[in-house]
Amino acid sequence: METKADFLIFFVNGEKVIEKEPDPTCTLLHYLRSKLQLTGSKNVCGEGGCGACTVMVSKYDDENNSILHYSVNACLTPVCSVHGLAVTTTEGIGSLRTRLHPAQEQIAKHHGSQCGFCTPGMVMSMYTLLRNNPQPSMIEIEKYLEGNLCRCTGYRPILDGYRTFSKEACAMGDNCCKNQTESRKNNKCNDEKRENYSPSYDSTQEPIFPPDLKVNFSAYNNKSLLFESNGVRWYRPVTLTELIELKHQYPHSKIIIGNTEVGIETRYKNMKYCVLIHTCNIPELTNITYTDDGIKIGASVTLSQVEVVLQQAIDNSSDEICRVFKAVVEMLKWFAGKQIRNTAAIGGNIMTASPISDLNPIFQACTAVLQVLSKGNSIRKVSMDVNFFQGYRQTVIKPTEVVLSVTIPYTDKNEYFEGYKQAIRKDDDIAIVNAGMRVVFEPGSNVIKDLYLSYGGMAPTTVMAKNTMQKLVGRKWENNLVPAVCQNLEEDLPLDPGAPGGIVEYRKTLTTSFFFKFYLTVTQQLYNKGITQENTIPRSHLSAIETRELGPSKGSQVYELVGAAQKDDNPIGRPVVHSSAYQHATGEAIFVDDMIPLKGELFVSPVYSSNHIDISDEPLFAVEEV
Ligand code: FES
Ligand code: FES
Repeated sequence: METKADFLIFFVNGEKVIEKEPDPTCTLLHYLRSKLQLTGSKNVCGEGGCGACTVMVSKYDDENNSILHYSVNACLTPVCSVHGLAVTTTEGIGSLRTRLHPAQEQIAKHHGSQCGFCTPGMVMSMYTLLRNNPQPSMIEIEKYLEGNLCRCTGYRPILDGYRTFSKEACAMGDNCCKNQTESRKNNKCNDEKRENYSPSYDSTQEPIFPPDLKVNFSAYNNKSLLFESNGVRWYRPVTLTELIELKHQYPHSKIIIGNTEVGIETRYKNMKYCVLIHTCNIPELTNITYTDDGIKIGASVTLSQVEVVLQQAIDNSSDEICRVFKAVVEMLKWFAGKQIRNTAAIGGNIMTASPISDLNPIFQACTAVLQVLSKGNSIRKVSMDVNFFQGYRQTVIKPTEVVLSVTIPYTDKNEYFEGYKQAIRKDDDIAIVNAGMRVVFEPGSNVIKDLYLSYGGMAPTTVMAKNTMQKLVGRKWENNLVPAVCQNLEEDLPLDPGAPGGIVEYRKTLTTSFFFKFYLTVTQQLYNKGITQENTIPRSHLSAIETRELGPSKGSQVYELVGAAQKDDNPIGRPVVHSSAYQHATGEAIFVDDMIPLKGELFVSPVYSSNHIDISDEPLFAVEEV
């Protein structure tokens, strides 16, 4: 496949962008900021962790004749991947020169911007939600903002601003009685008129999707592409045959979907990959089908799509067959931020084989089945069993093979499944330890037929507690099981005192804590089904199996009361929106990093000292000429 595309074509804020010979290593963020001088989207972490670079991507869905809008981290999105798509940044939705978009206005007006660096990203996450749902709930608002971190303002005023769009907004808007002098002291709201409240947002005023992308959908999406620059090639095959041929020709090429792994490796680990293959336009890799064994999900399907499909299955099927689906959906709630889940693919998550992958312990414990294909061979099935992970970031899949799909299995009525994750922070954080656990009982009894315990964070790979699993087969699911498991897990999952990641004792404790939680959960379910006659769970332990759904965050700020005689234009004691807030929200505020570099400009940065540094000889600052 050597089709050479002359141009990369996409739209930004309604304007067509045409780029000849785009650089496959260039991110969308870099392109927006450096090439188009759209500096509203900020560059902070550069690894998808903070959301300051959030923009909205829109694409035409030919099958359903609809437009899909989703938020992405522009710092990870390769610019080559937006061919045929529309990108919207905060500059494209409103400005002080024209009019502010309500998503910009409300965050500024409610004091949700302090330094303003996170503000454009917050605005674009909220804007994307409004494009998908003009009157969301507070839970949805928090879900869309979970990948956006604010380091200085705090989240209360940001959520206050965006609450005005929600179903829970007070009917009186800014005239809510909470804001009135006489009722501020108790901060109570009489929200009788809520039903009549219509927020300031009018979705019919939004810009239309570029008609060119719809009319010429086939030309943009069904044509193979090759971009090449600086020795790096970007292939976008559109058939499976092309993809298999490319993998055969370039076994060490990297398949790129969300770029959440390769993007970080190239940026922070100085890795260089000369052949990148984008597989989002290959139907076999984007299909989702129901089979007799489970749901077969194409390897390029994003985690957000996986969540939707599995939730639909849960809503429409019996509880008994969906136990793995439930564990996956629950885990996805705590899996990175919304922007990452919108672009990262299920196949990539498996194949990067991270030892702390959130989903791989679940896929291993349920023995998910992959379909893989290579040139000259027929499709082979690979079970994600105890042998699947071969070493640090290595699997049994060969370099010339391509993962086509993963089948997540149904459960049967004698089978129970749970997934667990412990991280420092609940949302958008990397696991310390995680686990997938499955037990299968002899029909109608509590005798263990099969047990699968898979852990992340305990070894260089996702790992199964093999001996523990084997030793428990044939035993009854009774209280004396727990001490036996604890002892065996200690032997199965050893950790040196100096193991990478540290906090060794805590991690070991988590492995047994997760099993204890699993034991209690299954015991309760066996009792509920009448399989065990006696509920052996002490009351004191019941809280361990409760599912804690966190409601929307709540908070309030009470402002100083000003006297009735104080004139309206006297700001003393009144909250005043700071002078840059609206510029922060629209991206019009110019930060030092947003200024166009001058030729010969010098940068100065402080450097760390070391113990042996002699400050009389060594510079304290590094100076670099650009
Ligand atoms: Fe932090 Fe992109 S800059 S997510
Ligand atoms: Fe959010 Fe400063 S980081 S306003």
